[in-house]
Amino acid sequence: MQNAPQTTKKGISADWLVRGVLTKIGDIFDRLTGRGYKPSSSLATSELIERMKFLMDSEAQTEDGRLFVPHNIKLKMQWDKFSTDSNESLRSLENEFLIAAVDHINDKRYYTKAPLHVEAKPDYFTQGVKLFVSFDKFADDDQEAGISVAVPGDTEEQIDIPTDAASIAEGERLAHIRGCNGGCHGKKGVGGRVWDEGWLAGHAMAPDIAKVARTYSTPELARVIRRGVRANGESVQIMPSPMFYHLSDADLGRIIAFLRSTPVTDANAYAFNAGPMWRWQMAKGEWTAYPDDIAKMGARIPPADPADSLHYGEYLARTSCSECHGDDLAGHDGTPNLTVAAAYAPADFSKLMRTGVALGGRELELMSDVARTRFHYFTDSEIEALHAFLRHRAEGTGRASP
Ligand code: HEC
Repeated sequence: MQNAPQTTKKGISADWLVRGVLTKIGDIFDRLTGRGYKPSSSLATSELIERMKFLMDSEAQTEDGRLFVPHNIKLKMQWDKFSTDSNESLRSLENEFLIAAVDHINDKRYYTKAPLHVEAKPDYFTQGVKLFVSFDKFADDDQEAGISVAVPGDTEEQIDIPTDAASIAEGERLAHIRGCNGGCHGKKGVGGRVWDEGWLAGHAMAPDIAKVARTYSTPELARVIRRGVRANGESVQIMPSPMFYHLSDADLGRIIAFLRSTPVTDANAYAFNAGPMWRWQMAKGEWTAYPDDIAKMGARIPPADPADSLHYGEYLARTSCSECHGDDLAGHDGTPNLTVAAAYAPADFSKLMRTGVALGGRELELMSDVARTRFHYFTDSEIEALHAFLRHRAEGTGRASP
């Protein structure tokens, strides 16, 4: 690594991971292309500029004896776990491309139909660098002329958002069960400080989700919720997207419908500040980004019919309990393996879900509160299905699916 760790007065700031590494544009390309260090006018950058010129030339169109070239230029770059703070370098990169494009247009006596616009942004699903040029605003990258690497799973499919009152009400119930409303995003979904471990580990603000639900397109929302990738290509950090990965289109559609029906307060904006300890863990590879974890999770479990209690129970467990009990429900970071639920008689399990009171009348440190804020929204038959699945799982086969 070229930028040696900078020791600050505190002695342990690992800020170089986020800022230092990316200060120089050359660095971005060096790491993406696997080349060694080069200054900003590096070979890698100038090679990309050559490609841009080539694309402009090949897309030029003649009108009234004049040659018009696309005026929208977009660069998508492989999102990197550490590049949460590379805005400055992206802006100077855009500037470098803009100057090169203007220069090329002058050289070739080209015309444009609108002012040149250059945009560079990181994107989780981009491998290496994708370069696009277009006469229109970029609606769908696939339809634009571009030099690109096709990456599967680039987009989340469009899902239907219902508009009827019953679906919106159901969306509210689902949002409570999953801890969106009345959970991490505050009582009414307006957001707030969701994680605060001091300066050493960091802190995060959950945003007002009503606002996000209106500013993100539906595929963007599906992508951030189920894949953990924000609209700007960055990973979420605290948001438990691995649990939401298995949400069905129908349930996710209802949740989004509900979020879009709630008033925007603008109270809180997204924020994530990784403290030096968190960054150190990232550097050591002890912490992996959620999108990476999700990519390894295999296929989304198929939507289950509520009448099929084992599969439905599995769906509920994986989309409601895995945040704390682990993706495989086998316990994680102080939570028990959910085989414990098999020890509960149906009535006791129902009591735990509805009132938070555990077997033997115990009050649990976190679980009791979670049940009271989230799980009392379960219906009786959902609780039965959940319990049936957890017992089945404890008996050995692990999953309801073969
Ligand atoms: C936000 C985190 C969180 C979620 C979500 C969560 N749990 Fe828990 N659960 C815990 C913790 C933590 C414990 C350990 C006891 C404690 O410290 O509260 C626990 C303990 C339990 C226990 C053991 C109770 C006992 O008798 O000691 C059961 C059963 C249980 N959870 C079931 C569930 C089920 C079923 C779901 C999903 C519907 C679920 N939990 C979702 C955090 C969670």
